[in-house]
Amino acid sequence: MPAKSHLMLAAALFSSVFVSPVAAQLQTDCDPLKKTCPPDPALGTMHLFNFNATPPEHTFNLTAGTVDYNVDTGAAFTMRKKGESVTLISNFYFFFGKTEVFLKAASGTGVISSIVWSSDVLDEVDWEFKGGNATHAFSNYFGKGMPDWKNGGDHLVEGGVLDDYHNYTCVWTKDKLEWWLDGGLLRTLLPKDANNTLNYPQTPMKLSLGIWAGGDPDGPQGTIDWAGGVTDYSQPHTMYVKSALVEDYSSGKEYSYSDQSGSWQSIKIASGNSTAFENINKEPEKSLSEKWNDLPSGTKSGVYAASGGVGAILLVALIFYYFKQRRRGQQEAALAAQRLEQDRVELEMYKKEGRDPDALAFDGTEYNSKSGMASTTYGLSDSPPGSSAGPPQKTWDPTGSSGAAAMPLLRDDTMSTYRDSPGSGPTPQIPAPTSTPPINRSFSSSSNAPGRMGSPGPQANAYGAYGGAR
Ligand SMILES: *[C@@H]1O[C@H](CO)[C@@H](O)[C@H](O)[C@H]1NC(C)=O
Ligand SMILES: *[C@@H]1O[C@H](CO)[C@@H](O)[C@H](O)[C@H]1NC(C)=O
Ligand SMILES: *[C@@H]1O[C@H](CO)[C@@H](O)[C@H](O)[C@H]1NC(C)=O
Ligand SMILES: *[C@@H]1O[C@H](CO)[C@@H](O)[C@H](O)[C@H]1NC(C)=O
Ligand SMILES: *[C@@H]1O[C@H](CO)[C@@H](O)[C@H](O)[C@H]1NC(C)=O
Repeated sequence: MPAKSHLMLAAALFSSVFVSPVAAQLQTDCDPLKKTCPPDPALGTMHLFNFNATPPEHTFNLTAGTVDYNVDTGAAFTMRKKGESVTLISNFYFFFGKTEVFLKAASGTGVISSIVWSSDVLDEVDWEFKGGNATHAFSNYFGKGMPDWKNGGDHLVEGGVLDDYHNYTCVWTKDKLEWWLDGGLLRTLLPKDANNTLNYPQTPMKLSLGIWAGGDPDGPQGTIDWAGGVTDYSQPHTMYVKSALVEDYSSGKEYSYSDQSGSWQSIKIASGNSTAFENINKEPEKSLSEKWNDLPSGTKSGVYAASGGVGAILLVALIFYYFKQRRRGQQEAALAAQRLEQDRVELEMYKKEGRDPDALAFDGTEYNSKSGMASTTYGLSDSPPGSSAGPPQKTWDPTGSSGAAAMPLLRDDTMSTYRDSPGSGPTPQIPAPTSTPPINRSFSSSSNAPGRMGSPGPQANAYGAYGGAR
């Protein structure tokens, strides 16, 4: 894992004049400073990942061990043995943006909890927490993998980092990078202060949340010292993350490096919906009545015409299907229960309206042809189980209001609670010039002189040297 080992190298530099290259494996799947690489999939939106349940499919990779999701504590990253650096790493990148992570660090000497942004060219932005230091959080950054002992910062955290969750936020534009703690600004990095823009993080980042052993006895002494001592593997260490809000200040499908400068101006944004966006907005699992609606009309007619007994069997089969479908632990179980209840209420409703599905002798086709108004109310394909009492009083509404209420647990619609106090947070700038065309938008613009940053070209060699050393 580049980010972690990178930290270790930096950590070694921090506390020791002796620079040990042993632990570091500065590497990236493909180095855009050396060759053409596949584009980075974008986030292209804002999303609150609520770790009371697994994140939406294919938004994060788990590198080692397991993460347990819980309504009360959020995601639990437990390091149980040597080498088990439990890390969730995003499958998506953001190009300037913001993350707000609610985290409770793991205790234990030599145990490091971390929030890391890292790019393909090893730009990096960090929050780190030492399990042996209950009082302080540590901030850090790197440009193009260049370790610099002057980059780190330490910050007193009221209430302590190990005992409670805190809001660890970073806000990043081309003009500045900020670290916020529980709504208070701790630190601002300006490009000119990062080796005159060369080491300013400025390339598309992915987010990692992870726990690792800074004090691994086989690691460099400098890293062990920095981490506060040797890691005790005799007991498990757990870091908790309740949620991570990630906002991509760019919108688009993917990011690519148009040259080997590693500058933000060289990043191109391809338009379209990102894969992450698609995954996040995938249709939630369907309710019983939605599934009913999806059945081919022939099947439905068959069910309509059949006896109540067959209807009941179908119902049981569908309920069974629910239980087969649920794989994600108790939240889903609760949801399923909620849905069953919702279905029960619906069935009650049909009964009240004289539409008892168990007492149906209803042929959709016949009904449709008999009553002209039927086709305007609902077509054959979505015909409700009607009744001899004639057209139902209201249109077929499979979800109902209770259906809408059943969903937010998984759909993370709580975003609004994060957004409804616009004045309280930082007001980040959207970096992209709005006038540029949407397709293959590039930030390069010489008229942007004041904010323009130089190319960290010379770093490419230095980076190569680091990479080559392992
Ligand atoms: C996540 O895993 C997929 C499938 O193994 C892989 O293609 C992708 O590169 C991984 N992404 C990251 C950020 O590690
Ligand atoms: C925690 O870190 C701060 C900042 O580096 C330091 O002043 C303090 O002594 C450390 N506390 C412990 C217990 O190591
Ligand atoms: C977390 O901190 C950021 C930065 O101060 C702030 O904008 C945001 O509203 C905070 N989030 C919550 C949920 O309080
Ligand atoms: C800062 O940039 C110069 C090139 O202008 C480079 O020689 C030097 O190594 C850089 N320093 C760091 C700490 O990256
Ligand atoms: C992007 O997603 C939105 C909302 O789902 C959809 O309306 C739009 O057609 C999609 N655009 C593309 C290019 O697929």
